[in-house]
Amino acid sequence: MNRTAVPPPVTMVMEAAGTWLPRRMADVEKRLAEVVGSGGNRLGEDAAATLEAGGKRLRPMLVLLCAGPEASERATRAAAAVELIHMATLVHDDVLDAAPLRRGRPTVFSASGRERATAVGDLLLSRAFAELAVASPDLDEDAAAAGAERAASERQVALLADASVSLAMGELVQRRDAFDIGLDAERYLDRCLLKTARLFECACVIGRAADAAEEVLAQFGAEIGLAFQLLDDVLDVTGPPERTGKARGTDLLDGTVTLPLIWAREEDRSLGEVDLRALDVAGAEALCDRIAATGALERVRAEARGRVERAKGLVADAPVDAAQRELLGVVADGVVERYS
Ligand code: IPE
Ligand code: IPE
Ligand code: MG
Ligand code: MG
Repeated sequence: MNRTAVPPPVTMVMEAAGTWLPRRMADVEKRLAEVVGSGGNRLGEDAAATLEAGGKRLRPMLVLLCAGPEASERATRAAAAVELIHMATLVHDDVLDAAPLRRGRPTVFSASGRERATAVGDLLLSRAFAELAVASPDLDEDAAAAGAERAASERQVALLADASVSLAMGELVQRRDAFDIGLDAERYLDRCLLKTARLFECACVIGRAADAAEEVLAQFGAEIGLAFQLLDDVLDVTGPPERTGKARGTDLLDGTVTLPLIWAREEDRSLGEVDLRALDVAGAEALCDRIAATGALERVRAEARGRVERAKGLVADAPVDAAQRELLGVVADGVVERYS
Protein backbone atom coordinates (compact mmCIF):
# COMPACT_ATOMS: atom_id res chain seq x y z
CA MET A 1 0.00 0.00 0.00
CA ASN A 2 1.20 3.51 -0.76
CA ARG A 3 1.40 4.76 2.81
CA THR A 4 2.14 8.33 1.85
CA ALA A 5 -1.40 8.41 0.47
CA VAL A 6 -2.90 7.20 3.74
CA PRO A 7 -4.33 10.00 5.89
CA PRO A 8 -2.89 10.43 9.43
CA PRO A 9 -5.36 8.45 11.61
CA VAL A 10 -4.88 5.29 9.57
CA THR A 11 -1.12 5.85 9.42
CA MET A 12 -1.09 6.19 13.20
CA VAL A 13 -2.81 2.87 13.68
CA MET A 14 -0.49 1.18 11.19
CA GLU A 15 2.55 2.51 13.00
CA ALA A 16 1.24 1.60 16.44
CA ALA A 17 0.53 -1.97 15.28
CA GLY A 18 4.12 -2.74 14.29
CA THR A 19 4.83 -4.81 11.19
CA TRP A 20 1.96 -7.25 11.10
CA LEU A 21 -0.84 -4.85 10.23
CA PRO A 22 0.88 -3.05 7.31
CA ARG A 23 1.84 -6.48 5.96
CA ARG A 24 -1.73 -7.75 6.15
CA MET A 25 -3.09 -4.50 4.73
CA ALA A 26 -0.69 -4.86 1.79
CA ASP A 27 -2.12 -8.36 1.22
CA VAL A 28 -5.63 -6.89 1.19
CA GLU A 29 -4.56 -4.20 -1.27
CA LYS A 30 -3.02 -6.80 -3.55
CA ARG A 31 -6.16 -8.92 -3.37
CA LEU A 32 -8.36 -5.91 -4.15
CA ALA A 33 -6.24 -5.06 -7.19
CA GLU A 34 -6.45 -8.67 -8.42
CA VAL A 35 -10.20 -8.88 -7.93
CA VAL A 36 -11.00 -5.52 -9.46
CA GLY A 37 -8.45 -5.89 -12.28
CA SER A 38 -9.63 -9.32 -13.34
CA GLY A 39 -12.47 -7.92 -15.49
CA GLY A 40 -10.19 -6.43 -18.11
CA ASN A 41 -12.99 -4.56 -19.88
CA ARG A 42 -14.20 -0.99 -19.70
CA LEU A 43 -16.33 -1.69 -16.63
CA GLY A 44 -13.26 -3.09 -14.95
CA GLU A 45 -11.38 0.11 -15.72
CA ASP A 46 -14.01 2.19 -13.97
CA ALA A 47 -13.82 -0.12 -10.97
CA ALA A 48 -10.01 0.06 -10.99
CA ALA A 49 -10.17 3.86 -11.03
CA THR A 50 -12.34 3.76 -7.91
CA LEU A 51 -9.77 1.51 -6.26
CA GLU A 52 -6.77 3.57 -7.30
CA ALA A 53 -8.37 6.81 -6.11
CA GLY A 54 -7.42 5.60 -2.64
CA GLY A 55 -9.73 5.82 0.32
CA LYS A 56 -8.87 5.36 3.94
CA ARG A 57 -9.33 1.57 4.00
CA LEU A 58 -10.76 1.98 7.46
CA ARG A 59 -13.15 -0.95 7.26
CA PRO A 60 -10.62 -3.58 6.09
CA MET A 61 -8.27 -2.29 8.76
CA LEU A 62 -10.95 -2.92 11.38
CA VAL A 63 -11.49 -6.44 10.05
CA LEU A 64 -7.79 -7.22 10.44
CA LEU A 65 -7.38 -5.48 13.78
CA CYS A 66 -10.30 -7.32 15.33
CA ALA A 67 -9.17 -10.62 13.80
CA GLY A 68 -5.68 -10.16 15.28
CA PRO A 69 -2.18 -11.00 14.02
CA GLU A 70 -2.70 -14.77 14.09
CA ALA A 71 -5.83 -14.79 11.92
CA SER A 72 -6.00 -17.03 8.86
CA GLU A 73 -6.06 -15.95 5.24
CA ARG A 74 -9.86 -16.00 5.48
CA ALA A 75 -9.61 -12.73 7.47
CA THR A 76 -7.69 -11.12 4.60
CA ARG A 77 -10.39 -12.16 2.18
CA ALA A 78 -13.07 -10.89 4.53
CA ALA A 79 -11.25 -7.55 4.74
CA ALA A 80 -11.15 -7.34 0.95
CA ALA A 81 -14.83 -8.31 0.73
CA VAL A 82 -15.87 -5.59 3.18
CA GLU A 83 -13.91 -2.96 1.24
CA LEU A 84 -15.48 -4.18 -2.03
CA ILE A 85 -18.96 -3.78 -0.54
CA HIS A 86 -17.96 -0.33 0.68
CA MET A 87 -16.66 0.64 -2.78
CA ALA A 88 -19.77 -0.73 -4.47
CA THR A 89 -22.02 1.26 -2.19
CA LEU A 90 -19.98 4.43 -2.74
CA VAL A 91 -20.32 4.08 -6.51
CA HIS A 92 -24.08 3.50 -6.19
CA ASP A 93 -24.40 6.17 -3.49
CA ASP A 94 -22.90 8.73 -5.85
CA VAL A 95 -25.60 7.91 -8.40
CA LEU A 96 -28.32 8.29 -5.76
CA ASP A 97 -26.78 11.50 -4.37
CA ALA A 98 -25.80 12.89 -7.81
CA ALA A 99 -22.36 13.52 -6.32
CA PRO A 100 -19.67 15.11 -8.51
CA LEU A 101 -16.54 14.27 -6.47
CA ARG A 102 -15.28 11.21 -4.63
CA ARG A 103 -11.82 10.65 -3.20
CA GLY A 104 -10.73 13.88 -4.86
CA ARG A 105 -11.73 12.70 -8.34
CA PRO A 106 -14.86 12.81 -10.49
CA THR A 107 -17.27 10.06 -9.41
CA VAL A 108 -17.92 7.15 -11.77
CA PHE A 109 -21.40 8.64 -12.08
CA SER A 110 -20.16 12.04 -13.26
CA ALA A 111 -17.32 10.67 -15.43
CA SER A 112 -19.07 7.69 -17.03
CA GLY A 113 -22.78 8.18 -16.41
CA ARG A 114 -25.55 6.58 -14.41
CA GLU A 115 -25.70 3.35 -16.40
CA ARG A 116 -22.05 2.52 -16.07
CA ALA A 117 -21.91 3.53 -12.42
CA THR A 118 -24.85 1.23 -11.73
CA ALA A 119 -23.09 -1.64 -13.50
CA VAL A 120 -19.72 -0.95 -11.80
CA GLY A 121 -21.38 -0.97 -8.40
CA ASP A 122 -23.11 -4.25 -9.25
CA LEU A 123 -19.79 -5.73 -10.34
CA LEU A 124 -18.04 -4.74 -7.11
CA LEU A 125 -20.94 -6.02 -5.03
CA SER A 126 -20.90 -9.40 -6.75
CA ARG A 127 -17.13 -9.68 -6.42
CA ALA A 128 -17.39 -9.04 -2.71
CA PHE A 129 -19.54 -12.10 -2.14
CA ALA A 130 -17.48 -14.19 -4.55
CA GLU A 131 -14.48 -13.37 -2.38
CA LEU A 132 -16.06 -15.09 0.60
CA ALA A 133 -17.20 -18.13 -1.34
CA VAL A 134 -13.64 -19.17 -2.28
CA ALA A 135 -12.92 -22.68 -0.98
CA SER A 136 -9.49 -23.90 0.09
CA PRO A 137 -8.40 -26.49 -2.52
CA ASP A 138 -5.86 -28.07 -0.17
CA LEU A 139 -8.65 -29.16 2.15
CA ASP A 140 -10.25 -31.49 -0.38
CA GLU A 141 -8.75 -34.56 1.29
CA ASP A 142 -9.66 -33.54 4.84
CA ALA A 143 -13.43 -33.74 5.27
CA ALA A 144 -13.53 -32.27 8.79
CA ALA A 145 -11.34 -29.27 7.90
CA ALA A 146 -13.31 -28.72 4.69
CA GLY A 147 -16.55 -28.74 6.72
CA ALA A 148 -15.18 -26.18 9.18
CA GLU A 149 -14.02 -24.02 6.28
CA ARG A 150 -17.48 -24.21 4.72
CA ALA A 151 -19.12 -23.21 7.99
CA ALA A 152 -16.74 -20.24 8.33
CA SER A 153 -17.52 -19.17 4.77
CA GLU A 154 -21.27 -19.40 5.38
CA ARG A 155 -20.99 -17.33 8.54
CA GLN A 156 -19.06 -14.61 6.73
CA VAL A 157 -21.52 -14.55 3.82
CA ALA A 158 -24.43 -14.23 6.26
CA LEU A 159 -22.74 -11.36 8.14
CA LEU A 160 -21.88 -9.46 4.98
CA ALA A 161 -25.34 -10.08 3.51
CA ASP A 162 -26.97 -8.62 6.64
CA ALA A 163 -24.78 -5.53 6.47
CA SER A 164 -25.47 -5.08 2.74
CA VAL A 165 -29.21 -5.36 3.25
CA SER A 166 -29.01 -2.72 5.99
CA LEU A 167 -27.00 -0.44 3.74
CA ALA A 168 -29.53 -0.71 0.93
CA MET A 169 -32.37 -0.09 3.40
CA GLY A 170 -30.52 2.96 4.71
CA GLU A 171 -30.23 4.39 1.22
CA LEU A 172 -33.95 3.73 0.65
CA VAL A 173 -34.85 5.48 3.89
CA GLN A 174 -32.69 8.42 2.81
CA ARG A 175 -34.62 8.64 -0.48
CA ARG A 176 -37.94 8.44 1.35
CA ASP A 177 -36.92 11.27 3.69
CA ALA A 178 -35.29 13.43 0.99
CA PHE A 179 -36.18 17.15 1.10
CA ASP A 180 -38.02 16.77 4.42
CA ILE A 181 -36.64 19.84 6.21
CA GLY A 182 -38.51 18.83 9.38
CA LEU A 183 -36.77 15.45 9.71
CA ASP A 184 -36.05 14.61 13.36
CA ALA A 185 -32.83 13.39 14.98
CA GLU A 186 -34.22 9.95 15.79
CA ARG A 187 -35.04 9.14 12.17
CA TYR A 188 -31.70 10.56 11.11
CA LEU A 189 -29.84 8.28 13.57
CA ASP A 190 -31.85 5.22 12.50
CA ARG A 191 -30.82 5.90 8.93
CA CYS A 192 -27.14 6.29 9.87
CA LEU A 193 -27.24 3.05 11.77
CA LEU A 194 -28.45 1.27 8.65
CA LYS A 195 -26.41 2.94 5.96
CA THR A 196 -23.08 3.22 7.79
CA ALA A 197 -22.85 1.68 11.25
CA ARG A 198 -23.95 -1.82 10.28
CA LEU A 199 -20.98 -2.28 7.93
CA PHE A 200 -18.57 -1.11 10.65
CA GLU A 201 -20.24 -3.58 13.00
CA CYS A 202 -19.79 -6.34 10.43
CA ALA A 203 -16.13 -5.36 9.91
CA CYS A 204 -15.44 -5.87 13.61
CA VAL A 205 -16.68 -9.45 13.70
CA ILE A 206 -16.38 -10.95 10.20
CA GLY A 207 -12.68 -11.81 10.43
CA ARG A 208 -13.01 -13.70 13.71
CA ALA A 209 -14.61 -16.90 14.90
CA ALA A 210 -17.70 -16.28 17.04
CA ASP A 211 -16.60 -16.06 20.68
CA ALA A 212 -17.21 -14.21 23.95
CA ALA A 213 -15.88 -10.91 22.56
CA GLU A 214 -18.17 -10.87 19.52
CA GLU A 215 -21.09 -8.97 21.00
CA VAL A 216 -19.00 -6.18 22.46
CA LEU A 217 -16.91 -5.80 19.29
CA ALA A 218 -20.13 -5.53 17.30
CA GLN A 219 -21.33 -2.76 19.62
CA PHE A 220 -17.95 -1.04 19.36
CA GLY A 221 -18.26 -1.13 15.55
CA ALA A 222 -21.79 0.27 15.60
CA GLU A 223 -20.80 3.17 17.90
CA ILE A 224 -17.77 4.22 15.88
CA GLY A 225 -19.76 3.75 12.67
CA LEU A 226 -22.37 6.20 13.90
CA ALA A 227 -19.65 8.61 15.01
CA PHE A 228 -18.06 8.24 11.59
CA GLN A 229 -21.27 9.24 9.77
CA LEU A 230 -21.89 12.15 12.16
CA LEU A 231 -18.46 13.49 11.33
CA ASP A 232 -18.94 12.84 7.62
CA ASP A 233 -22.08 14.95 7.78
CA VAL A 234 -20.15 17.74 9.52
CA LEU A 235 -17.45 17.57 6.82
CA ASP A 236 -20.14 17.88 4.13
CA VAL A 237 -20.96 21.29 5.63
CA THR A 238 -17.42 22.47 6.35
CA GLY A 239 -15.45 21.08 3.41
CA PRO A 240 -13.07 22.12 2.06
CA PRO A 241 -13.15 19.77 -0.96
CA GLU A 242 -9.34 19.82 -1.19
CA ARG A 243 -9.26 18.05 2.15
CA THR A 244 -12.41 15.95 2.10
CA GLY A 245 -12.18 14.90 -1.55
CA LYS A 246 -15.94 15.55 -1.80
CA ALA A 247 -17.96 18.61 -2.84
CA ARG A 248 -19.22 20.85 -0.02
CA GLY A 249 -23.00 20.92 0.40
CA THR A 250 -23.62 17.70 -1.57
CA ASP A 251 -26.10 16.56 1.09
CA LEU A 252 -28.17 19.76 0.96
CA LEU A 253 -28.24 19.86 -2.84
CA ASP A 254 -29.50 16.32 -2.80
CA GLY A 255 -32.18 17.04 -0.18
CA THR A 256 -30.41 14.96 2.46
CA VAL A 257 -31.18 16.44 5.87
CA THR A 258 -28.47 15.60 8.42
CA LEU A 259 -27.87 16.29 12.11
CA PRO A 260 -25.99 19.58 11.56
CA LEU A 261 -29.10 21.02 9.88
CA ILE A 262 -31.51 19.37 12.35
CA TRP A 263 -29.69 20.91 15.32
CA ALA A 264 -29.06 24.21 13.54
CA ARG A 265 -32.85 24.45 13.05
CA GLU A 266 -33.28 24.40 16.83
CA GLU A 267 -31.09 27.51 17.15
CA ASP A 268 -32.27 29.37 14.04
CA ARG A 269 -35.98 28.68 13.46
CA SER A 270 -35.91 30.32 10.03
CA LEU A 271 -33.86 27.37 8.77
CA GLY A 272 -37.05 25.31 9.07
CA GLU A 273 -38.59 27.38 6.25
CA VAL A 274 -35.86 26.66 3.67
CA ASP A 275 -36.99 24.95 0.46
CA LEU A 276 -34.20 22.49 -0.28
CA ARG A 277 -35.60 21.78 -3.75
CA ALA A 278 -34.89 25.36 -4.75
CA LEU A 279 -31.17 25.28 -3.81
CA ASP A 280 -28.41 25.79 -6.34
CA VAL A 281 -24.68 25.37 -5.64
CA ALA A 282 -24.27 28.94 -4.34
CA GLY A 283 -27.44 28.59 -2.22
CA ALA A 284 -26.11 25.34 -0.71
CA GLU A 285 -22.81 27.05 0.19
CA ALA A 286 -24.71 29.89 1.85
CA LEU A 287 -26.88 27.42 3.76
CA CYS A 288 -23.74 25.58 4.94
CA ASP A 289 -22.52 28.91 6.35
CA ARG A 290 -25.83 29.54 8.11
CA ILE A 291 -25.70 26.07 9.68
CA ALA A 292 -22.11 26.65 10.83
CA ALA A 293 -23.06 30.03 12.34
CA THR A 294 -25.49 28.38 14.79
CA GLY A 295 -22.77 26.36 16.53
CA ALA A 296 -24.50 23.09 15.53
CA LEU A 297 -21.30 21.67 14.04
CA GLU A 298 -19.53 21.76 17.41
CA ARG A 299 -22.52 20.05 19.00
CA VAL A 300 -22.48 17.27 16.38
CA ARG A 301 -18.71 16.83 16.78
CA ALA A 302 -19.21 16.53 20.54
CA GLU A 303 -21.93 13.91 20.00
CA ALA A 304 -19.55 11.96 17.74
CA ARG A 305 -16.78 12.20 20.33
CA GLY A 306 -19.17 10.98 23.02
CA ARG A 307 -19.93 7.90 20.94
CA VAL A 308 -16.23 7.26 20.44
CA GLU A 309 -15.69 7.43 24.20
CA ARG A 310 -18.57 5.02 24.73
CA ALA A 311 -17.04 2.67 22.15
CA LYS A 312 -13.68 2.77 23.90
CA GLY A 313 -15.39 2.12 27.23
CA LEU A 314 -17.07 -0.95 25.75
CA VAL A 315 -13.79 -2.57 24.72
CA ALA A 316 -12.11 -1.62 28.01
CA ASP A 317 -13.74 -4.63 29.67
CA ALA A 318 -13.88 -6.91 26.63
CA PRO A 319 -12.04 -10.22 26.51
CA VAL A 320 -9.55 -9.04 23.88
CA ASP A 321 -5.81 -8.66 24.36
CA ALA A 322 -4.34 -5.40 25.60
CA ALA A 323 -2.53 -4.52 22.37
CA GLN A 324 -5.72 -5.02 20.37
CA ARG A 325 -7.68 -2.86 22.81
CA GLU A 326 -5.18 -0.05 22.48
CA LEU A 327 -5.23 -0.16 18.68
CA LEU A 328 -9.02 -0.14 18.62
CA GLY A 329 -8.82 2.99 20.76
CA VAL A 330 -6.53 4.62 18.20
CA VAL A 331 -8.97 3.76 15.38
CA ALA A 332 -11.90 5.08 17.39
CA ASP A 333 -10.14 8.41 18.00
CA GLY A 334 -9.21 8.57 14.31
CA VAL A 335 -12.89 8.39 13.36
CA VAL A 336 -13.51 11.83 14.85
CA GLU A 337 -10.06 13.40 14.32
CA ARG A 338 -10.03 13.55 10.55
CA TYR A 339 -10.66 15.71 7.51
CA SER A 340 -11.47 13.05 4.92
C1 IPE B 1 -17.61 7.35 3.00
O1 IPE B 1 -16.77 6.48 3.68
C2 IPE B 1 -19.01 6.92 3.16
C3 IPE B 1 -19.54 7.08 4.50
C4 IPE B 1 -20.01 6.11 5.20
C5 IPE B 1 -19.60 8.40 5.08
P1 IPE B 1 -15.22 6.74 3.82
O2 IPE B 1 -14.99 8.15 4.26
O3 IPE B 1 -14.63 5.67 4.66
O4 IPE B 1 -14.70 6.61 2.34
P2 IPE B 1 -13.26 6.28 1.78
O5 IPE B 1 -13.22 4.81 1.56
O6 IPE B 1 -12.23 6.73 2.76
O7 IPE B 1 -13.18 7.02 0.48
C1 IPE C 1 -22.90 7.29 3.40
O1 IPE C 1 -23.53 8.48 3.31
C2 IPE C 1 -23.05 6.51 2.14
C3 IPE C 1 -22.90 5.10 2.24
C4 IPE C 1 -22.95 4.42 3.31
C5 IPE C 1 -22.71 4.40 0.97
P1 IPE C 1 -23.05 9.72 2.46
O2 IPE C 1 -23.85 9.85 1.23
O3 IPE C 1 -23.00 10.88 3.39
O4 IPE C 1 -21.56 9.34 2.06
P2 IPE C 1 -20.65 10.28 1.17
O5 IPE C 1 -20.58 11.62 1.89
O6 IPE C 1 -21.27 10.36 -0.16
O7 IPE C 1 -19.30 9.60 1.18
MG1 MG D 1 -23.20 10.37 -0.67
MG1 MG E 1 -21.54 12.43 3.22
